[in-house]
Amino acid sequence: MGTSAFQIEGALDADGRGPSIWDRFAGESGDTGAVACDHYNRWREHLDLLSQLGVNAYRFSIAWPRLFPDGSRREQRGFDHYDRLIDRLLELGVTPIVTLYHWCLPQPLDWTERDTVERFAEYAAACFDAYGDRVPRWITINEHWIVMLLGYQLGLHAPGRRDHRRAVEAAHNLLLAHGRAVQELRARRRDAQVGIAFALAPHYPESDADRDVAWGSDGYVNRWFLDAALKGSYPDDMRERWEAVVGPLDFVRDGDLETIAAGNDFVGVNYYARRLMRANPERGPFGWEVVSDPEAPRTDAGTEITPLALTDLLVRLRDDYGDVPILITENGACIDEAPHDERRIRFLYGHLWAVLDAIEQGVPVIGYTHWSLMDNFEWALGYAQRFGLVHVDYATQRRTIKDSGRYYAGIARANALEAPA
Ligand code: FCB
Repeated sequence: MGTSAFQIEGALDADGRGPSIWDRFAGESGDTGAVACDHYNRWREHLDLLSQLGVNAYRFSIAWPRLFPDGSRREQRGFDHYDRLIDRLLELGVTPIVTLYHWCLPQPLDWTERDTVERFAEYAAACFDAYGDRVPRWITINEHWIVMLLGYQLGLHAPGRRDHRRAVEAAHNLLLAHGRAVQELRARRRDAQVGIAFALAPHYPESDADRDVAWGSDGYVNRWFLDAALKGSYPDDMRERWEAVVGPLDFVRDGDLETIAAGNDFVGVNYYARRLMRANPERGPFGWEVVSDPEAPRTDAGTEITPLALTDLLVRLRDDYGDVPILITENGACIDEAPHDERRIRFLYGHLWAVLDAIEQGVPVIGYTHWSLMDNFEWALGYAQRFGLVHVDYATQRRTIKDSGRYYAGIARANALEAPA
């Protein structure tokens, strides 16, 4: 199971934490992360829940502004907090999988500035020094494409920019930051693994006439990032598309791509849905749009539920990028049912079945962490969107394990997929 710091912690001023770009960012819901699941105070209770749910691994993120409140000054109380949390997980027999950057950027920093890459490398190195003896698996950065798209192109996430050129520059710096962190880990430890978590979506053309745009959008969402991290190059077709819109990508310097591809022990896959593509020359910047099948089942956020596309995605990763191990770092659904959430149970069964199918076809999947342990602050969409296996009543902070949580626990304990009753 997975969570991220800003979505659950609250306590934004506790123990010297500095502000992050999300603290005051008003998304369309108007909600903020000021309290969230009060995890900074209730973390012991939440780890007990994890243990009750029988999982053997937990993916969580560290809030960078707790460790370096202004991006460079060190705050020991922040370090101590995650120290206790990691120790407790190990006592409970749960392996920590730590994400270094899940969008919680110290307010003074900005991904369009190259200097942020070095600040990140320092932060990553400090985390490897502090926790590297106990954390076997690290994820550097979560969902470069979403940060680029929502944070810098559409302005829907912090820092709320709308600038295509700055967006692709921010994405490049995020990739570079990943590579620099990998180098820092390799310089310190040989016994820990490091990877990246990408938001990936398999693409399908709506009709034969849409094949080109399906491939184009695959370049935008998937290949731009996968090729950089796994092959050390940006795909030519997508580079041309970007340059037609924003001019020469001259912020890509010699040696950057070698750094980006410094070596991944695994690739983290965040999978929510496929993308069905239609050409639409009116739509900027690339002349395509995402459409959906009116017949497809949907989550309460309107996202199509497309489990079989996950098998396609995993098989394609193996076919195009070789045998790099795959960790499913996120997969989940916004479903507003609790505690009897039969639709989430069906979602889980369908997607785990799809993963098993890929494994049977020889794809090296090394793990699956469902999104999310509990309902939480869903960024710009706030608290109305519920992805948890545990329900959170925000008025009372009461937690209730949903039926899906019990179903997941059964699968985790048996380490075998059972069809729902
Ligand atoms: C992903 C994010 C995660 C959560 C899920 C629903 O894009 O990585 O934090 O918001 O979506």
